[in-house]
Amino acid sequence: MHLLQDQEPTDLERLTGLARRGFLGAGALGGAALFLGGSLLSRSVNAAFSSSPLMGFAGIPAATADSLSLPPGYRASVLISWGQPLHADGPAFDASGHGSATDQEQQFGDNNDGMSLFPFKDDPDRALLAINNEYTNYRYLYAHGGRPQSPEEVRKALASEGVSVIEVSRHNGHWQFVQGSPYNRRIHGNSPITFSGPAAGDALLRTAADPEGHHVLGTFQNCANGKTPWGTYLTCEENFSDCFGSSNASQAFNAAQKRYGASATSKEVDWHPHDLRFDMAHNPNEFNRHGWIVEIDPFDPTSTPVKRTALGRFKHENAALAQTTDGRAVVYMGDDERGEFIYRFVSRDRIASGQRDLLDHGTLYVARFEPGPEHKGSGQWLELSHGQHGLDAGNGFASQADVLIHARVAASHRQATRMDRPEWIVVSPLDGQVYCTLTNNTKRGEDGQPVGGPNPRAKNVYGQILRWRPAGDDHGAVNFEWDLFAVAGNPAAHPGKPEAGSANITPRNMFNSPDGLGFDDAGRLWILTDGDVSNQGDFAGMGNNQMLCADPDSGEIRRFMVGPVGCEVTGISFAPDQRTLFVGIQHPGENGGSTFPEHLPGGKPRSSVMAITRDDGGVIGA
Ligand code: FEO
Ligand code: CA
Ligand code: CA
Repeated sequence: MHLLQDQEPTDLERLTGLARRGFLGAGALGGAALFLGGSLLSRSVNAAFSSSPLMGFAGIPAATADSLSLPPGYRASVLISWGQPLHADGPAFDASGHGSATDQEQQFGDNNDGMSLFPFKDDPDRALLAINNEYTNYRYLYAHGGRPQSPEEVRKALASEGVSVIEVSRHNGHWQFVQGSPYNRRIHGNSPITFSGPAAGDALLRTAADPEGHHVLGTFQNCANGKTPWGTYLTCEENFSDCFGSSNASQAFNAAQKRYGASATSKEVDWHPHDLRFDMAHNPNEFNRHGWIVEIDPFDPTSTPVKRTALGRFKHENAALAQTTDGRAVVYMGDDERGEFIYRFVSRDRIASGQRDLLDHGTLYVARFEPGPEHKGSGQWLELSHGQHGLDAGNGFASQADVLIHARVAASHRQATRMDRPEWIVVSPLDGQVYCTLTNNTKRGEDGQPVGGPNPRAKNVYGQILRWRPAGDDHGAVNFEWDLFAVAGNPAAHPGKPEAGSANITPRNMFNSPDGLGFDDAGRLWILTDGDVSNQGDFAGMGNNQMLCADPDSGEIRRFMVGPVGCEVTGISFAPDQRTLFVGIQHPGENGGSTFPEHLPGGKPRSSVMAITRDDGGVIGA
């Protein structure tokens, strides 16, 4: 990989600065201190939520329209949509669904999710945007609108997922996609990728097509993202197990395969009848070759992406970078499954060493949360290293490769805390506190998942936002303190009950299923939702999926944007001057009812990255 040539070198400096600045605010467990009040008394604090110095816009109402709503003075434009050709001579988007797999390999992928912006060092008007394409919607991908019916159709689906790297440039204050840039690139479900780290070459990663276990085809189900201080992009493989099935309907899966969701019938994906790679009866080890974090150098279009096995294998949501006080890289990661865990990787070597395989050597940990009074508590990171704490051959772990490939099993062995579906994790640029969305968990209270601690409600349909502060403000510390920043709920439907949520949730800002998170440079926390959009019952008054903005110190939350019908709002990045916000509208019209964003009569909805600006050119959210 060639690195640090074209891109802005400020990330490393910023992270270094962060470690020095330490915690400026009221502290992790002061300030907001907003907890589930069974009583309405705690809601009186809302009276104080009137004028956050961080937020200069008026919160907007919920909406159910097939359009994008923003506060007065803001506007949105489409940066790029599914199917747009990346190259000047590329195939045009074919709304009929008859376009080929080869066409899709040259077009922007479907269902854009997490993304990171990489500015050019020598030109403030140019940047690269690396964007995940999580999955596809057969309703729109194929002319027949159903599951794939041929190898070519499976190849088209694989081509629609992965990552798109695009160049963007600024003209008169507006960022636009640069079609034809030599940096534009697709990495999809059939692209060559290498393995590195302790599990590379392990017997469990070897297949007939790759007897050495070092080379794999493709990355898919790419959920959210991370950006390293050394200028690379991390893409996280989430629901990979949905893509595998078996031609043997009675195939007996072992415990580890079951723990990772193996089943003979893939989850509505159906690649295995047409591509033996996804047939567990023929290729059981292919299953182990997905569920990793992949590192990509966006500035080298010829580089081969690398699956970094030291970070563990699970349903990766995103990757949040931080650093220890002695300068080593830290990656926080969530496993988005009911009752699964939150992980942390700490590199062996310092970022300043200049090594580019920093994520191959280090220690993986999993979080245990100790419950305390009032939805606060302490916690600790439990090491997942072979040969320690019973992670040995006697318990089924022959090597560190086993620990990493079956990280979930190892984490259970350490009695980590089973969480309410960990989604995104972000680190505050101001005080280093870490925030994590726990999106919902309808099985909390069953299935051996106790109610309490950071997962305080049974049959949790709304979700919450957890945060923690590492001991000594050192992301390498073993211990931390935690609290709940927000507990989502519906105070109109469930007044006075735990389902009303925390005191900073009101009928004016309520939402469910917090998922994406992002911090801007000023320390505003942006919350993106992927929830129930029925607007009825538990969810009455919440409308479509949305994006909100929060003041981490006061706890105030305001609704900033509402997306179109059937969409999820996911993926967030800011231009360096904070005057353009890039945000993803994923799967508009998931179940019909949308023609966003073009609104052509009879047209198809298209997942899109939107550029949000202010009419007066000001900083977003200020
Ligand atoms: Fe891709 Fe858990 O969201
Ligand atoms: Ca998500
Ligand atoms: Ca979600």
